[in-house]
Amino acid sequence: KVYRASTTAPVNIAVVKYWGKRDAKLNLPTNSSLSVTLSQNDLRTLTTASCSSTYTGDDSLLLNGEPSDISGARTQACFRELRARRAALEAANTSLPKLSTFPLKIVSENNFPTAAGLASSAAGFAALVQAIANLYELPDSPAELSLIARQGSGSACRSLFGGYVAWRMGEKEDGSDSMADLVAPASHWPSMRALILVVSAAKKGVSSTSGMQQTVATSGLFKERITTVVPANMALMEDAIKNRNFAQFAEVTMRDSNSFHATCADTYPPIFYMNDVSKAAIRAVEAINAQAGKTVAAYTFDAGPNCVVYYQEEDAATVLGAFAPILATAEGWKEASATNSTVKLD
Ligand code: DP6
Repeated sequence: KVYRASTTAPVNIAVVKYWGKRDAKLNLPTNSSLSVTLSQNDLRTLTTASCSSTYTGDDSLLLNGEPSDISGARTQACFRELRARRAALEAANTSLPKLSTFPLKIVSENNFPTAAGLASSAAGFAALVQAIANLYELPDSPAELSLIARQGSGSACRSLFGGYVAWRMGEKEDGSDSMADLVAPASHWPSMRALILVVSAAKKGVSSTSGMQQTVATSGLFKERITTVVPANMALMEDAIKNRNFAQFAEVTMRDSNSFHATCADTYPPIFYMNDVSKAAIRAVEAINAQAGKTVAAYTFDAGPNCVVYYQEEDAATVLGAFAPILATAEGWKEASATNSTVKLD
């Protein structure tokens, strides 16, 4: 008998960025962060986990049809934690099949370019953890599973929910309080939209894991960011979301992206994720807002040149129209509704 479970997990794009680890092994951050979940109709990872006593060999992962290396410490930590939880259930109820002793086969597919700065590791690890949790019939809540997904990739802990999600940095050394929670469901602000400007689908230069470690080690500006800038931005952002205050949401989003990229430039040697097309996108957003006489669009950039623009549905014509000239210079673009439901479970 083969036991099997599938799930999908969405992509999230941070509006207050995670950048910096206080513990690289447990993947504990130097600051809290907050993200908006994108619609799974547009961007998602679909993962199926299966196991069987008839499977031989080690655990395996097929990612977009290619065998993927799962020997890394972070992936191993996810497998180990999930197995331990299943083993505890089996110990408490001896009539359960001993799934924890069988090899796992994971098959995972993204419907967007991997490693293009579109947070593929977030959706990937969230789907991996949720699929195995479903296979093992674990009773853990999304918040509890976020503790495991976090160890795969920090941003993944925010992809176990839909809507507006905060990752609280926590204080404990063992990381047991460094987990995600739901700030508001997508239905709270259904007019929110995201335009994804794929400036380059090529693999990014400096990975976020290594980039943030260089920033922590060398940037003076970074200290200011984690002690003053981010705590203020988290409070302002939660307030903006609760009140559906787009102007405030937008200003904090843009300022936080700028602050994050400033610490990258202050890293020694410096790290540059944005290119000339990225900068043209910033100027386009500024021009749109100036023309509208109010804030109708906000840009944000992760560890790559791709731009995500948040706007509200009522401003779609203004925002999309203004982007037409710069879309001609980018490799492609994708409009995604940011109003998805929560992660679909089996
Ligand atoms: C710029 O979650 O990819 O996208 O924990 O090392 O896997 P690891 O890092 P990762 O970093 C994401 C950085 C970011 C900001 C964010 O998503 O908050």
